[in-house]
Amino acid sequence: MAEIGSRRRSFDWQDTLRQLPKNEHQHGVLGSEICDNLKMQNLESKRLRFRPFAAADLAEFWSLDTDPEVVRYLGGKIKTQEQCRERLELIAGHHREHGHGLCFTQLKTTGEFVGRTGLIPWELDGEKLWEVGYTFARKYWGQGLASEASAFWISHGFAGLPVEFLVSLIHPENAASIRVAEKNGMQLWKQTEIKGLRINAYRINR
Ligand SMILES: CC(C)(COP(=O)(O)OP(=O)(O)OC[C@H]1O[C@@H](n2cnc3c(N)ncnc32)[C@H](O)[C@@H]1OP(=O)(O)O)[C@@H](O)C(=O)NCCC(=O)NCCS
Repeated sequence: MAEIGSRRRSFDWQDTLRQLPKNEHQHGVLGSEICDNLKMQNLESKRLRFRPFAAADLAEFWSLDTDPEVVRYLGGKIKTQEQCRERLELIAGHHREHGHGLCFTQLKTTGEFVGRTGLIPWELDGEKLWEVGYTFARKYWGQGLASEASAFWISHGFAGLPVEFLVSLIHPENAASIRVAEKNGMQLWKQTEIKGLRINAYRINR
């Protein structure tokens, strides 16, 4: 069971940046085709705006994975900057390959980074499927932002992916995340494991 593309790819971060047109290079966007795809879409909910991650977003991305409370139910381990850089490359690959992936998530009012949310391809128990994923910086918990983002990505996922269902893969003790899933109409589908970690798969059908 693995997040699709989780094996190290021969993706060269610096090479990608060098290939970009100047204005995109300056913003460090990971691949002009990603921009073209997303420029055509209005990726925003009531309070949030979503865009693909850029190389320059590494610090924000990493900040999530250095907070023990944030990673508590995400394997529990603080990640290194290099691990986060690899994850960003993986996510850029999802956008390139599928036109969907986790996104830099910010407040519309101030532009502040609040977390990463979006769609993640998985192979779970031999089945390819898509997860609605959401992780927010602790400062922004308890304001309904995860519920808002999750509802947005469920709707966006069904509109843009040829799938009959979407899932959220949640540690059984992650009560806040379970509440978010259930509030948006997901129901417990099955209990399984990812890399030795217990996971409850919550599911919503099209
Ligand atoms: C899980 C997480 C995304 C929730 O974000 P959030 O923006 O605070 O979520 P929301 O405010 O939209 O909703 C949380 C709901 O859970 C409830 N809740 C929060 N903590 C709870 C707890 N310990 N037990 C039960 N319910 C809880 C809230 O009351 C709220 O429900 P309500 O709207 O009915 O009052 C956030 O805590 C987070 O980023 N955690 C770290 C990363 C993570 O675990 N991501 C999920 C991976 S599956």
